[in-house]
Amino acid sequence: MHDKTILLIIGGGIAAYKTLELIRLLKKRGATVRAILTTGGAEFVTPLSVSTLAGDKTFTDLFDLDDEAKIGHIQLARDADLIVVAPATADLMAKMAVGLANDLATTCLLASNSPILIAPAMNPVMYEAKATKRNRTQLAEDGVHFAGPASGDMACGEEGEGRMLEPALILNKIDALLNQKKIEGPKSLLLSGHSDRPSELLLEGRHVLVTAGPTHEPIDPVRYIANHSSGKQGYAIAMAARDLGASVTLISGPTSLPVPDGIEMVRVETAEQMLSAAKTTLPADIAVCAAAVGDWRVAKNADHKIKKAGSKPPVLGLVENPDILKTLSQKGPKRPQLVIGFAAETQDLIANARKKLKAKGCDWIVANDVSASSGTFGGDRNQVTLIIDQEVEKWPSLDKQEVAQRLMVEAAGRLTNNKQAAE
Ligand code: CTP
Repeated sequence: MHDKTILLIIGGGIAAYKTLELIRLLKKRGATVRAILTTGGAEFVTPLSVSTLAGDKTFTDLFDLDDEAKIGHIQLARDADLIVVAPATADLMAKMAVGLANDLATTCLLASNSPILIAPAMNPVMYEAKATKRNRTQLAEDGVHFAGPASGDMACGEEGEGRMLEPALILNKIDALLNQKKIEGPKSLLLSGHSDRPSELLLEGRHVLVTAGPTHEPIDPVRYIANHSSGKQGYAIAMAARDLGASVTLISGPTSLPVPDGIEMVRVETAEQMLSAAKTTLPADIAVCAAAVGDWRVAKNADHKIKKAGSKPPVLGLVENPDILKTLSQKGPKRPQLVIGFAAETQDLIANARKKLKAKGCDWIVANDVSASSGTFGGDRNQVTLIIDQEVEKWPSLDKQEVAQRLMVEAAGRLTNNKQAAE
């Protein structure tokens, strides 16, 4: 981002503190950051902290003669390659939707031809309010790009949609927008699962394969070996890829989850069936192995129910199952560009995950603690660490849906980078 200037507008919401981290990430990537702090924003973060991180003066006042003489609000708006509004409050969104220009932030927004990305953040009821919905639709129609919001616990104590996306995820969006040769208008916006939430089609034209859920390895016609996987994380990944415009094949072991709309679903029971379904699904651009595949199956699955034979329990001879992730990671013409595995661990998370990354030959490993106390198996949240080569990125505890979105946006970024490197 060395040759890029981002005009960052910081609105008045508690999430403004997260914007400081966004500034840090942008600066780390080499971008020039100019920041406007609204009056509300200044209630949450100070001009001094913003200026210190941005390495530049923070602009606050439309009628500041000194600033106006030096740079001018029109110039401030025009110099930007991208304007980012984070947090975008309900108030700021409403003003943008009707074209108000009564302070420096809104004046710059109106006076600019640059693309605009907003990261909404507000109370869930405000986000779902009819007026906000109207404004969102209007802004999407005007070609404004959206980053989030995410769902989860809010600072106000309520739960729902309205949390500002994590800075790293906003950064991905910024990356994707800056990398697009031509930033497209409203036509590129997808009305996703959330009927009126627009998002970029970062995976349009891509095929994504996802394995999910447990496997059931039969012992006899009535018994099987299984595990606690609910399939939630894998299904969320499939839906996130779909929402980014990919065509998705979800190969799922037995779960109680509903079949997601707009996804090709292949139901399997055993690891061997999952492998065979994965092979026939290729080619794919991205493969995500989120399934908790049974490591072993019974060597000889009994044709009839095994009966108790006196006091002696039966001996189940086990054989190892094929490794789907390892198979998909093997070099060859059909290898997906990006193969992502999960490492479910109960101890030495990072060390074991690193070993797995190497042993399986995949590109990324998402490490997660599945010990009973973590609540990952069956729960709605997940705290993961993404391992890419030597890089270890610990993500905060997020909704599985949010982990999925973030992972798929990062994956889309990798495909874009690969494409650019090949050009
Ligand atoms: N995996 C797979 N096929 C298998 C076993 C695992 O595709 N037969 C994939 C999982 O989907 C996951 C990754 O490999 O992406 C790691 O799975 P995990 O259960 O954490 O590890 P294992 O490989 O089974 O190793 P171990 O049980 O010894 O930790």
